[in-house]
Amino acid sequence: MRLFVAIDLPGALKADLESRVVDPLRDHVPGARWTRPDGRHLTLKFLGEVDEARAARVEDALAAAGNGFGGFTAAFDRVGGFPNLRRPRVVWIGFGAGAERAAALAGRVDDALSPLGFAVEKRAFTAHLTLARFRIPATIGELPAVEVPTEAFSVDEIVLFRSELRREGARYTRVRTFPL
Ligand code: 2AM
Repeated sequence: MRLFVAIDLPGALKADLESRVVDPLRDHVPGARWTRPDGRHLTLKFLGEVDEARAARVEDALAAAGNGFGGFTAAFDRVGGFPNLRRPRVVWIGFGAGAERAAALAGRVDDALSPLGFAVEKRAFTAHLTLARFRIPATIGELPAVEVPTEAFSVDEIVLFRSELRREGARYTRVRTFPL
């Protein structure tokens, strides 16, 4: 199965993102494939295809990674793009508050999984939630100002998700949650 580890968001925040960020941007960002509101999450680590025996070990490692880390408060504060917002492959919103703790958490997850053979990420971690992807980097010019929901929310668990690729888009299901 195809697995990844993520921070999930409160349902009300997902709905706010749609009305306050995505709807105002939609017409200004042609050619984008928008992520589905209920599937939005902040990825800490993408694992890819994992067999069942290894998945059991992944769960043990994630339980250890989360244990004692401690919950924290997070809030989005900006719209960004990879590699940049003028010609992005990905448009995202990023953490202001909580960014450092999320990066530390991603590091803990990375360290816990590396003995199982998952490569440690070498790039600096950017806590981001993907809103749109482009097959070809788009030139989108100036974006209208949008009101990113900056309400703080608490992060007190990490989630192991399964991703099933379907013609109509990936479907994500929770496999297990691990308290922090
Ligand atoms: P992204 O939001 O930064 O694109 C599930 O596919 C999640 O895993 C996505 O949200 C995606 O994060 C992340 N991911 C990271 N690397 C990936 C890869 N090589 N293939 C698919 N998804 C990846």
